[in-house]
Amino acid sequence: MSAAGPPSPPHGRPKAGWQFPYGARPLPGGAEAHAVREAGGGQHTSEALLAVRGLVTQFATRDGLASAVDGVSFDVAAGEIVGLVGESGSGKSVTGYSILGLIDPPGRIAAGSIKLDGRELVGLSHRRYRAVRGRRIAMVFQDPMSTLNAVLTVSAQMQLAMRAHGRPSPDQMRRRSIEALAKVGIPDPERRIDAYPHELSGGMRQRVAIAIAFLNQPELVICDEPTTALDVSIQAQILVEMRSLVRDTRVSLVWISHDLATVSVLASRLLVMYAGRLIEQGPTAEVLRRPRHPYTRGLIDSLPSRTAPGRDLTQIPGATPSLTALPPGCAFKTRCSYATSACDEPPPETFDSGRAWRCFHPLNLPSAAAVQG
Ligand SMILES: Nc1ncnc2c1ncn2[C@@H]1O[C@H](COP(=O)(O)OP(=O)(O)OP(=O)(O)O)[C@@H](O)[C@H]1O
Ligand code: SF4
Ligand SMILES: [Mg+2]
Repeated sequence: MSAAGPPSPPHGRPKAGWQFPYGARPLPGGAEAHAVREAGGGQHTSEALLAVRGLVTQFATRDGLASAVDGVSFDVAAGEIVGLVGESGSGKSVTGYSILGLIDPPGRIAAGSIKLDGRELVGLSHRRYRAVRGRRIAMVFQDPMSTLNAVLTVSAQMQLAMRAHGRPSPDQMRRRSIEALAKVGIPDPERRIDAYPHELSGGMRQRVAIAIAFLNQPELVICDEPTTALDVSIQAQILVEMRSLVRDTRVSLVWISHDLATVSVLASRLLVMYAGRLIEQGPTAEVLRRPRHPYTRGLIDSLPSRTAPGRDLTQIPGATPSLTALPPGCAFKTRCSYATSACDEPPPETFDSGRAWRCFHPLNLPSAAAVQG
């Protein structure tokens, strides 16, 4: 696994034990409940709805080619909620856009495969991708106004979404729209359906955008920081509603966020990105309680909730390097207190009991729960 023996842990014992915010309990996860590839052949441990393999998405920039996504592989099973986390610029959104076929020049998917239910999406024509987008895969963005049209009523926008992928009658469309609005917690949907976006609060607008994403009963929804701009109580309500939506519809969800606390409420499995690479993945509760990668550890320790009132927030030292000037070997090397000469080579992906990480010196600290107990 490691090219050299691990040095002693520089971070010491974990701080206070991990607490799931909003009183949430971890969703079921674990080796049997999800799909992490096992070493030696990229076999799936269960049927994946979405299978991403070796995805490389690059942008031509003035300073050269930037691999915003660099060799990313993961699966999402049917009905699973996967959280994709990482600092700003780590490649989360570009991963989402790549899956949706929304990478335009000067960007391109340079390598890899994205399969939805076994069908390859990379290389699909624009026309064929349009049939997938909105119907089989939908996306919710941070700013609902990037989805909503300011001059159309909610009803008109929902009708457009339904007509793009079928020919429902006006009565069917109204009934389906009202049902969809009710499901995302919009009170009095029979009245709100005739409102314009500016007549709704930010939280209501985001709920409408989520309702539109779910309208055509997609198999996969990618949510890119959908609650980041909302206040904490609305955020908590939407998270609860998302959980029940997923339970009721069996849709698969990729929830993108830089906020580990939010993701931990929803996702049964975490994917952690750094500089375009997936550096750790595994069941949420296990990753949070016993991170194997020093970067994941740094993200957890940086959470404001883990700092005592009045104390300075913990930070990961240094800054994310430019994508066009990454150090050779492990991209986290310049910020990692574990780094040794072994880290001058790219760390291979190590798989163990439904978890995976890329580090020559993985952490092996007792779980926070054990420390607490
Ligand atoms: N159109 C583009 N042209 C050039 N570089 C791009 C383009 N879009 C994204 N990038 C680069 O790709 C990298 C990953 O960007 P991405 O938007 O995926 O980050 P992110 O993890 O979603 O960050 P954030 O949390 O800030 O949303 C960044 O370095 C960004 O500058
Ligand atoms: S530099 Fe990279 S490979 Fe080396 S210990 Fe740190 S995270 Fe692991
Ligand atoms: Mg983003």
